[in-house]
Amino acid sequence: MSLLPYDDRDGEIWFDGAFTPWRDAKVHVVCHGLHYGSAVFEGERIYEGKIFKLEEHTDRLFKSAEILGMEIPFTADQINQACYDACTRNGIVNGYVRPIAWRGSEEMGISAQRTKTHVAIAAWEWPSYFPKEIREKGIGLKTTYWKKPAPDTAPCFAKASGLYMLNTIAKHDAEAEGFQDVLMHDYRGYVAETSGANLFMVKDGVIYTPIADCFLNGITRATIIDMAREYGYTLEEKHIMPDELMEADEIFITGTAVEVTPIGRIDDTPFTVGPVTKDLMARYSALTHAHAKEKESA
Ligand SMILES: Cc1ncc(COP(=O)(O)O)c(C=O)c1O
Repeated sequence: MSLLPYDDRDGEIWFDGAFTPWRDAKVHVVCHGLHYGSAVFEGERIYEGKIFKLEEHTDRLFKSAEILGMEIPFTADQINQACYDACTRNGIVNGYVRPIAWRGSEEMGISAQRTKTHVAIAAWEWPSYFPKEIREKGIGLKTTYWKKPAPDTAPCFAKASGLYMLNTIAKHDAEAEGFQDVLMHDYRGYVAETSGANLFMVKDGVIYTPIADCFLNGITRATIIDMAREYGYTLEEKHIMPDELMEADEIFITGTAVEVTPIGRIDDTPFTVGPVTKDLMARYSALTHAHAKEKESA
């Protein structure tokens, strides 16, 4: 990953309907999105020129905006096209795409009925979320004391910028102690997710994943659930207690950024990267690259 600051790069960003030089894609400091966290975003991966599950991501962007009462002034087709254009204009064939929508500077204060919703889309190269050597052995998670809030405490089904305040605090704490990421429980004490990915465990050949009733129901999570069932695994969604998780044979996490990443330890408990995890990692990689293979063999 490049260490260049994100505001000082070559390239172009799609900004409210037109492309602007990367360095000029700015918002004013007196902006509702910045002051009050009124922003929603997506994280997409492009593989060999094709954005994986683009329509699902765009759909979620609109749903997230709706939950926050924001109206995106573009159609889904326009956003989809702009995501591809952002990749093409920046020469990104394998990378990450970040659409974001936020309330602007037209009005300030908690009530912001007259603000306009602005939209920008940036794309950049972003190979592996965790360093390859660490990923292969499985990453370490530290359980945080921060809890995923109840659905009547935060808009937990929106991919809303403001919600990540918690995740960043928790992830920084975990990193300070040598872990790669954080394990979050929910307000009831059930296992929830990491800072940016959903979680699965394997016990006696059965795959379990927490019910997504107070955290983001990831697009990768849905893909893995379908894929596992298609390939004959038994998969159950259920509430999982932390003690049960610690007894698992295998644990892995899923997300657009992390793809399928094995867990090597949680707090002081080690886990091995098992056959189910390896199988699903390989199958997910094949699925995200399927179109490229088809092209090759055509
Ligand atoms: C908090 C959180 N949970 C789960 C996910 C996984 O979602 P997806 O698979 O749609 O990327 C993400 C990533 O978007 C996330 O930020």
